[in-house]
Amino acid sequence: MTTPVKKRPLRGTITVPGDKSITHRAVIFSALGEGTSEVIGYLPSEDCERTITAFREMGIAISVETVNGLPSLHVQGKGLWGLTEPTGVIDCGNSGTTLRLLTGLLAGKPFFSVLTGDASLRKRPMRRVIDPLRSMGAEIFGRSGGNLAPLAISGKKLNGIDYRLPIASAQVKSAILLAGLTASGVTTLSEPSRSRDHTERMLRSLGVRFEENNGRLSIVGGSSYPGKRIEVPGDLSSAAFFLVAGAIIEGSEITIRKIGVNPTRTGLLEVLKEMGAEITVTPLEPMGDEPVADLTVRSTSLHGAVIGGDLIPRTIDEFPILCVAAAAAEGETVIRDAQELRVKESDRIAAMAQALRGMGITVEEFPDGMRIEGKKKWKGTFCETHGDHRIAMSMAIAGLVAEGGNEIDDVACIDTSFPGFLGLLSTLNG
Ligand code: S3P
Repeated sequence: MTTPVKKRPLRGTITVPGDKSITHRAVIFSALGEGTSEVIGYLPSEDCERTITAFREMGIAISVETVNGLPSLHVQGKGLWGLTEPTGVIDCGNSGTTLRLLTGLLAGKPFFSVLTGDASLRKRPMRRVIDPLRSMGAEIFGRSGGNLAPLAISGKKLNGIDYRLPIASAQVKSAILLAGLTASGVTTLSEPSRSRDHTERMLRSLGVRFEENNGRLSIVGGSSYPGKRIEVPGDLSSAAFFLVAGAIIEGSEITIRKIGVNPTRTGLLEVLKEMGAEITVTPLEPMGDEPVADLTVRSTSLHGAVIGGDLIPRTIDEFPILCVAAAAAEGETVIRDAQELRVKESDRIAAMAQALRGMGITVEEFPDGMRIEGKKKWKGTFCETHGDHRIAMSMAIAGLVAEGGNEIDDVACIDTSFPGFLGLLSTLNG
């Protein structure tokens, strides 16, 4: 489809759907709790539906309701050992979080399970979860020595380990913590820099025996807990598209309400501010253990920045839209240490470099990042999303600025994380 072109400055107050990472975890931990949990304001997107369906296939009753006008889930948890063997293959679709977290969880369950996903997910590296799980005693098979899905898991009694992650990854960390939840003894983890910590916050708020000392995380196996009401804040990774749109389109002012501002996720706010963006963060009451705020962005002229190091894991999902901000900025932006972008839903370095070049922007690619030269006028281009929701949304925002809009090969993939994105954009654009 051809993306909308700018009709007027973007002005108004919006809400975006619930946080994707927190929704996955809320469903998983609700299913493993003793009794009923409510997940208020969950994200009803394709990725999260994969996790919900997987638990239904393992005997968990989950119903959808509306609470205070928000899409919500009622989950009948059956405790740490209550899941039943799925009779078919669990299809995780495009969702790396579903596949990796469930691999950790199911490695220690007393049954056989098979997990697969779409063509993109079947190309993504799984050894990063399989290796530590195997050292806990897991029996997991997959293509390429276990590196590629489909994965077949023959559940085993697991032992706790002491493991240092070679790369910062919340999916790997969470998979091992989920395995540790039913392993014997203590499972201890550390990572080279801090990835998103929603699992840790949720474990703490549920009362699981879990400790954190100098960046070392320890979970005690067998710690059961009751069901709980979990509120899900708006997803900063979804708000990101409107933050950048508001920053680069002259005359704009957008407020995005009730967004999760967990410091392990707010790299984009820091980077945009460093680039000269005007963003106001108004703190609200936290939701459980997660900090929440209203975010207001006003357009300004941006300048380039250098981004690398510890900022990368805290900004990891925002690079496609950050590339659009960089393309609008004066001067050049350099992104380094971001090799993980090559193994996301698509190779996001290659995909964004190709898309930006199509708009007439100069981009130099590095194995671990890119250099983008900002430019005032962009031409519309044909964009291949590679089925990647964040590439599609980023290029739709870029299309507001590019002459004639952009042509996008696949907008259906947006439903992976942000159903209603294009409709919400048109309410601001008129
Ligand atoms: C996620 C962790 C990150 C992120 C992904 C969601 C999670 O992946 O990119 O979109 O919910 O744990 P990695 O763990 O591969 O960095």
